[in-house]
Order: sequence, then structure tokens, then C-alpha cells
Amino acid sequence: MTRGALIVFEGGDRCGKTTQCSKLVEYLQSTGVDTQMWRFPNRSTSIGQSINAYLSEQAHLDDAVVHMLFVANRLEQRTEMLRLLAAGTTLVLDRYSYSGVAYTAAKGVPGLTMEYCKSLEVLLPAADLVVHMAMTPEATAARGGYGQERYEKVEFQKKVMEAFESLRDERWAVIDASGSIDDIHKQVVAVVQPVVERARAGAPLGKLWD
Ligand code: TMP
Repeated sequence: MTRGALIVFEGGDRCGKTTQCSKLVEYLQSTGVDTQMWRFPNRSTSIGQSINAYLSEQAHLDDAVVHMLFVANRLEQRTEMLRLLAAGTTLVLDRYSYSGVAYTAAKGVPGLTMEYCKSLEVLLPAADLVVHMAMTPEATAARGGYGQERYEKVEFQKKVMEAFESLRDERWAVIDASGSIDDIHKQVVAVVQPVVERARAGAPLGKLWD
């Protein structure tokens, strides 16, 4: 049995990740790759509903607590994630632990460091590929609907962008998110295909932050 690939899209708010995740899933399925799209936070669980209340500013939570909720919201999907990957399903994730670390570290709260945030997620698998949709916070702010959620503020998004930049390693591909939807999609397909093939050929799944 060959395993599925874990493909993660990351980036600032309103950078077009969700559109690109959907297009990628459609493309992979059309080429016969068993694929599912997931989003984090998963707002449908009870933990996800608390996160949603926080993001939409209906609830106020301590920064350390909300960080734990984001982590728990991933851990509650861990068994199913590992089962699907092992069964050969490729997962395309709209955000993952990299957002968890970048957004919390960007707050600059004493003690909520990148190292601390990373340490809470070592039970989760690492992405085979992180597609970083990079765009300036000023450009995303000009997009429709910006500002509706808690973190959609240009100064904060600049810090998030810096945090993402410091997390990049050889598993990351950086794509200019300001181009056209179809151009970006072509670039995404070009970086994703070899990763799906490597997973299919038996490349081992990594652990986060190893
Ligand atoms: P989204 O559903 O539009 O992607 O937005 C979710 C928001 O939550 C976005 O501002 C990023 C933030 N976030 C965190 O702060 N920590 C996390 O672990 C995740 C997954 C998202």
C-alpha cells in the first residue's frame, strides 16, 4: 500500500489559500489521485466552535488558552489524518501547525515563543510540502471582506509574515500570491506533483519539527 501526501497551504489572511486548495484537490482528483481537502481550524467541532467565537470577537480568551485550543483542534483530527495518509489518501490542508506557531509567536506574548509552540505539536505528522502563498499584508488588506476577523490587521499580519519566513525550510515552496488564479494554480501543480509521487513511492512521513 502506498501512502498519501500531506500538502499544506500557509499564508496570511485573505491570500487566496482556500481557492488554491480547492483547485488543487479538483486537479488531483481528476488525475486519479485520491484526495481530500481539510481546513484548520476545523470550526465544526466543539473546540472549533470556541475558536470561531474567539476569531469573530464574540469571546475573549487568554492567548495561551486559545493557542492550546488551536493545537487541540489539530490533535483531535490526528488519528483520522494518519489513517487516511496510510490508506493512500492525499490530504490538502488549508492551514496547519505552521499557522499555529506563526500567529501565536507573532503576538509577542512572553513565554509563547516559537520553541514553546512547536513543542506542543510533536505528535503530529510534518507536511511533505508547505506551499507558502506570499503576499504583502497591504495587498491582502485591499481584498474584499478583509478586517472581519480578529487577526486581519496589517501590522499584525506583517509580524505573521516574518514568522512564516523564519519557519521556512527545504520542504517549503514560496509562491507569489498576487498573480492570477490560473497562473498560481499552474505553479502549485508543478511543486505538488513530484511530492505526491515521492509519497506514493514510499518516502516516509516526517514528524513535526524534527
Ligand atoms: P481562516 O479560517 O480564514 O484561515 O482563519 C483562521 C484564523 O486563525 C487566521 O487568522 C489564522 C488563525 N490561526 C491561528 O491563529 N492559529 C492556528 O493554529 C490556525 C490554524 C489559524
